[in-house]
Formats: sequence, structure tokens, C-alpha cells
Amino acid sequence: MKIFVTRKLPGKELESLLASGHEVVVSEFDRPLAPAELLEGLSGVDAVLSLLSDKIDGEVMDAAGPQLKIISNYAVGFDNIDVAAASERKIVVTNTPSDAVNEAVAEHTWALILSLTRRIVEADEVVKRGAYKGWEPGIFLGMSLVGKTLGIIGLGRIGTMTAKRAAGFGMKVLYTKRSPDPEIEKELGITFASQDDLLAQSDIVSLHVPLTDETRHMMNRDAFAKMKEGSYIVNTARGPIIDEHDLVDALRSGRIKGAGLDVFDNEPNVNPELIGMENVVLTPHIASATWEARDAMGTQAVSAILSTLSGTKPETMVNPEIWDSRRT
Ligand code: DGY
Repeated sequence: MKIFVTRKLPGKELESLLASGHEVVVSEFDRPLAPAELLEGLSGVDAVLSLLSDKIDGEVMDAAGPQLKIISNYAVGFDNIDVAAASERKIVVTNTPSDAVNEAVAEHTWALILSLTRRIVEADEVVKRGAYKGWEPGIFLGMSLVGKTLGIIGLGRIGTMTAKRAAGFGMKVLYTKRSPDPEIEKELGITFASQDDLLAQSDIVSLHVPLTDETRHMMNRDAFAKMKEGSYIVNTARGPIIDEHDLVDALRSGRIKGAGLDVFDNEPNVNPELIGMENVVLTPHIASATWEARDAMGTQAVSAILSTLSGTKPETMVNPEIWDSRRT
């Protein structure tokens, strides 16, 4: 069968795909594909290994042809794929939610929290510029974490791993979820809160919800107005969850003291106003960029394709309800 991989991946995980006996084509470009290139690559294939930068909607699926059986997305998030359209067409969709990826994103969330609250990036710049003139009591004052409150919006796997690490810093944790989870509350000593209460009480708010119609721009002017004066916000989930214009206003007014962002509303473009702000730490969507996570992502993405094509249900199916009626 024919398999298209939309970009070369780090690590050795593609080797098992190439050795599988299927006809495998890996994009010749080491960059995101333009829509026309994606259509061309997908035409006539049975399976595609896609990245989060590949927009795959119903039209693209139809253009690929009726033989397309599986879209294996090399990411935990799958907002780049119209899953409803795939299910309608009985196409299997999978993602890569391993512990390795979730832990990497949780670690990066903490890297942003610490960079922001201890002003690491600003201070590093001063030292490297040769502007450090000796110890001073008042330079680069930041916020201690001990005793402060971390608000986790979305207590899924990554949210939970982020919450777990808060104990080491002596922080109190509030969380939102569709409904309270008494077991995890007992295990981690964390507390369920309404979103409004969480925003009002948290010193740091960290976003861990998927991007959906419901969460798009959920952090807007109204939400920022509800946040505690002088608190911080961190986003390692998806950029469009934050309305960046409203965030800029909230940062300017001082209501929000700082923001740590790994994802952006319109990637790879970054709002130029954010770039100019010292109290903002920006990273280029690298929260899952560890060797361990990338290996796990590659293994899961490749194995989902090989098992689907051989008739075995993949472990990471995001539309499992169509398995029995899937395209074969
Ligand atoms: C994911 O897995 O969804 C990440 O955003 C990719 O790094």
C-alpha cells in the first residue's frame, strides 16, 4: 500500500516504515508543505503520516481519494484535522499521546514558569551583553513560587503531570475539568475550582485544554479581567486559546505581569507587540521537543499506520467509534 510522510522526522522511527514493504514516500521538502503540495502528496495514498502544520479537512480527504484509510498525526493535538469529516468518511485518525510527550510538555511548562517568575531570559541577556556590574539587592526581583497558587485549566494528562510537579515547589494547585476528579485530588492534594474562581485566585495560570470551538480565544479580555492582579499566564497547549491582542492589552495594563508562550495564534507568525515585551518569554512550539518524546511520537505514529493497514486497531485512535465500519 502507499504511505505518504509529509516531512522527514528526527530519529530512526521512519526506518521501520521504510522497511515494511509498503510503498513509502517521504516529502522531499524539509519544511511544512503548501496546500497544493500536500494535495499532490496525498493523492492516491492509503495512509498519511501528518504533522500539526498540515491542515487536513474533508476536501483534502476527498482529493486524496477513496482509498485513504488512516491519517496518523504526529502530535498529541489534532485540531489540524477535521476529525468529524474523517469519521463521516470512515477514515481512521490517530495521535501520539505517550507519557514521554506529556512529560516533555509538562517540563517545558515549568521551564516557562521559572523563566518568567525569575526573569531568567532578561537576566541572561544582561550578563551576556557585559552589563552585569556586581551584586545588587534590587536587580531582577521576581516572584517566589512557594506558597503561591498554580491554576491548571484542563486537567488532562499534561495538566496532571504539570500539577504533580507543583508539589516540589510547595505550591497550591487549583484545576478545572469537565467534572471534579476526587481520586486525583486525593492523590495530588489539588482542588477543583470553577474557571472564574481559578482565574481570580491563581498567581500563575497554565493552559492545558485542546483547541476546540469552545476553547478558541477562551482567554480573552473578559477572562484576563478576572485574573488576579499581577498574575502570570503560560500556554503550552495551542495558540488560538489566547486572544493575543487582548493579552497584549492585559500585559500593558499590568493586570497580567508576564506571559510564557510556546504556541501562537497564527504560527509561525508571532504578534510583534509580544516580541517587544521584556515580561514575555517566547519559545517556538518546542514543548515536546525532547529526543525521548520525538522517538515516542515516531514509534506511535508509525505503529498506528502499520497496525491499521494490517487490520489491527491502533491504540491511539481518536475516532474509535468508526473502527468496525472503517474503510478497508
Ligand atoms: C503536540 O503533540 O500536540 C505538540 O504540540 C507537538 O509538539
